[in-house]
Amino acid sequence: MKIFLDTANVEEIKQAIGYGLLDGVTTNPSLVAKSATKERGFVDIVKEILRITPGPVSIEVVATDYENMVKQGLKIAALGDNAVVKIPMTLDGLRAIKTLSEKQIKVNCTLIFNPIQALLAAKSGAEYVSPFVGRLDDIGEDGMAIIQQIKTIFVNYDISTKILVASIRNPVHVLRSAVLGADVVTLPMDVLQKLPSHPKTDEGLKRFLDDWKKVSPDGEFPL
Ligand code: G3P
Repeated sequence: MKIFLDTANVEEIKQAIGYGLLDGVTTNPSLVAKSATKERGFVDIVKEILRITPGPVSIEVVATDYENMVKQGLKIAALGDNAVVKIPMTLDGLRAIKTLSEKQIKVNCTLIFNPIQALLAAKSGAEYVSPFVGRLDDIGEDGMAIIQQIKTIFVNYDISTKILVASIRNPVHVLRSAVLGADVVTLPMDVLQKLPSHPKTDEGLKRFLDDWKKVSPDGEFPL
């Protein structure tokens, strides 16, 4: 399962690259708005993210009509070989996905909240579908249930579109994504940093180091 960072923050991306854990990045207009400044706007930010990320970077269109989604998508795709055009799940969006994917441009269909939306995006040629599990949980639905259904549908019809689990809020979402065979999880930095942690790991490490002081009182390693 690939791990993407859900951010437009260049420092966070560099940190995740430093961990050796980063397979790609997803951005959206809200995330870009959080990182943009007067001096450094959308174009500078996404160009730098594309340059430093060792994998695909999803960048979202902001048009809602077919023609302008395609126009913006073409411009996004021209920014770099690893650019993926993010298109929202609407009827115009589906048309734009078809047009762009017929030009061999990779599309990530976003704002997916049910499995039929994912099936439609896949039929239109999307490379990725992004179901938003956290936002479904927020309104009392089981977000992960739709990942299971999408997986079943994609297996049923031998669909190669990748399931990119988005709007992840916690490590349990990551665990359940892996158990279900999702292709990608896109994580906020705080969730990525929580993944290696376990209180028993901390406790065990402390005990090993305390015991080591019995062998080497200054804690030095003799090799
Ligand atoms: O990037 C799409 C998605 O991951 C957004 O997540 O936390 O705003 O629901 P969130």
